[in-house]
Amino acid sequence: MYRTHTCGELRASHINTEVTLSGWVQKNRNKGFMVWIDLRDRYGITQLIFDEERTSKEIIEKAKTLGREFVIQVTGKVIERQAKNPKIPTGDIEILVSDLTILNKSKLPPFTIEDETDGGEDIRMKYRYLDIRRNPVKENLLFRHKVAMEIRNYLSKKEFIEVETPYLIKSTPEGARDFVVPSRMNEGQFYALPQSPQTFKQLLMVGGMDKYFQIVKCFRDEDLRADRQPEFTQIDCEMAFVEQEDILNIFEGMTRHLLKELKGVDVDKFPRITYDDAMRLYGNDKPDIRFGMQFGELNEVTQHKDFKVFNDAELVVGIAVPNGNKFTRKEIDKLIDWVKRPQVGALGMVYCRCNDDGTFKSSVDKFYDQEDLAKWAEVTGAKAGDLICVLSGDINKVRAQLSALRMELAERLGLRKPDEFAPLWVVDFPLLEWDEETERYHAMHHPFTAPKPEQIKLLETEPEKVKANAYDLVLNGNEIGGGSIRIHDKEIQAKMFNHLGFTPEEAKNQFGFLMDAFQYGAPPHGGIAFGFDRLVSILAGKETIRDFIAFPKNNSGRDIMIDAPANIDENQLTELNLKVEIKE
Ligand code: AMO
Repeated sequence: MYRTHTCGELRASHINTEVTLSGWVQKNRNKGFMVWIDLRDRYGITQLIFDEERTSKEIIEKAKTLGREFVIQVTGKVIERQAKNPKIPTGDIEILVSDLTILNKSKLPPFTIEDETDGGEDIRMKYRYLDIRRNPVKENLLFRHKVAMEIRNYLSKKEFIEVETPYLIKSTPEGARDFVVPSRMNEGQFYALPQSPQTFKQLLMVGGMDKYFQIVKCFRDEDLRADRQPEFTQIDCEMAFVEQEDILNIFEGMTRHLLKELKGVDVDKFPRITYDDAMRLYGNDKPDIRFGMQFGELNEVTQHKDFKVFNDAELVVGIAVPNGNKFTRKEIDKLIDWVKRPQVGALGMVYCRCNDDGTFKSSVDKFYDQEDLAKWAEVTGAKAGDLICVLSGDINKVRAQLSALRMELAERLGLRKPDEFAPLWVVDFPLLEWDEETERYHAMHHPFTAPKPEQIKLLETEPEKVKANAYDLVLNGNEIGGGSIRIHDKEIQAKMFNHLGFTPEEAKNQFGFLMDAFQYGAPPHGGIAFGFDRLVSILAGKETIRDFIAFPKNNSGRDIMIDAPANIDENQLTELNLKVEIKE
C-alpha cells in the first residue's frame, strides 16, 4: 500500500498513529543532525522530521539526498510539532520517519513549484504537468470539476439527459473557420470538427429526446484572445416544446443555482435588456452592469453650435465618470492618448469637468456655455465631482470606442469587482447582420435561428430590421452563453438559407439532412450553449480561460508542451491522399 493517508489529512487527533504517506518533496531543510522535509500531494503538505536521536543513520543520510520534486514514500509516527504552523491544516503535527523509499528521482524543475512561481508563462506551458502541481492551477482544475458536477446534477434532476454527439462531422456554421480532418477511406474528402453540436442537438429533438445536454468539446479556427481557445468546452443544451421564456427560466435557474452553491451569492431575477438598448446604453451587446456609466446621447444638446466636429458627427455620446473631476490635466491627456490608440481608434475626446460648486469647465468652452454644459450633465447623469467624457463619429464606431473607454475606466477605478456577480439577459438580437466584406447578410447567431414570427414578412423588404428569438446570457461583461428558438419548418428554413445567399443546391448539399428531418415531425424547439471555460473562470473571478484548462493552447494555437501542430510522416500523407506530387 503506497499510503494510508494523504498529505492534507493528518491532525492532532492522529498523534501516535503509525502512517504511510506518498508524495513529492516540496522542500528539504538539512541542519546536519536534523532534516525536515515538506511532503506535498494534491491534498496538502505534511512536515516530515528525521533526527539523529530517533531516526536510523541510514535513513537520515538518504533523506539528505532528496531533491525537490523527488517522489517518496515514508512510514512513521504522527507526533506533536514543537513549533506549530497555523497557516496549514496539518500544522499541528509532523511525521517522525522510520522508513523512507525513493519511488522516483526528479530533475531539478525549471521553475519553483510555489504559489508565486519564478516561471514565466511560456516555460510553465512547456512543463504544464509541473505547473499543475502548483496550488493556483490545481485549485482551478478542482473548481472546474465542481462546476461540472453541479451542472450535471442540476440538469439531470430536471430530466435532461446527456447524449454524446460525433466529432467527425460536416461543417456547422457558427461563424468561425472549421478544423478539418482528411478521410483515408474516402479519397479527397474531409470531415469537419464541430464548431458546436448545433445540428445534432436539433436532430435529437426530432428524435424525441426533448431535454438534452452535453458538456462537450467544440473546435473553432479563429483568432485567439484571453477568452477564446481553438478547442473549448460548451454546456450545450436543447429542449423541445418550449418557447423563449421557458429556456430563459430554466437556464437562469441553473445559473442562479451555480452562483448560490459555488459562490454563496443570491441573485434575484436576472434583468433583461434588448440588443438595441444594450447598444444604445453601453455601446456593446455584452455590457458589464456591475457599475453605471450608461451612455448619454448628446446630439440634441450639442449640434446647435459652431463646433464642426460634433455637427458633422452621426452620433455624439458621453459618459459620466464618477468622481472623475479629481483627474489631473495630465491624467486626462493620457486618457485622450488612450482612446486615440489604434486599438480603440477615436480621433479625440472632449471632456467636461463638473465642479463641486455646480459650475462646469469643458475642453470646448469656446462653443458651449454653462447652460449647454448643464444639459450634457443632465443627459449623462453626471453629478458634481464627475467628469463627462464625450466621443463623436459614426454610430457603430463611436459606440465601440466609448464602450472600450467605459470598460477601461471601470477597470482603473476598481469598479469591476471580481466577487460581485451581475448577470444579464440580452434579448431580441437582429436575425441578420450585413457583412461589408462579402456584401451579403450573415446570420447573427446561426442560420437555424427563428425570426420573430410577426416579423417574417419584413424579410423580403427590410431584412436588417427583423429581430430573432435569440438571446445571450452575459455575466460581468462576458458573453457566457447564447441560444435561440429554432426554425422547425422546412419552408422557413429554406427561405432563411436563400436570404443568406445559399442556392437551393448548396443548402441541400450542406444541410439536406436537417431539412429532410424537418419533414418527419420536427417539434418546436430551442436551446442555449454556455461557454463552460468562460463560465468557470468568471465564477472564479478571472477572465483568462487558459488558466482553467488543463492543457491549453497558446495565442498562436500551439500546444508548446507536446509541440503541436507538427509535420506528419510522408507515408501518412500518402495514405491520406494529401501528398502533393511536384511534377518536373
Ligand atoms: P455560440 O457560438 O454563441 O453559440 O457559443 C456559445 C458559447 O460558447 C462560448 N464560446 C467560446 N469559448 C471559448 N473559446 C471560444 N473560441 C468560444 N466560442 C464560443 C461563448 C458562447 O457564448 N450552437 C450555438 C448555441 C445555441 O444556439 O444553442 C453556439 O455555439 O461563451
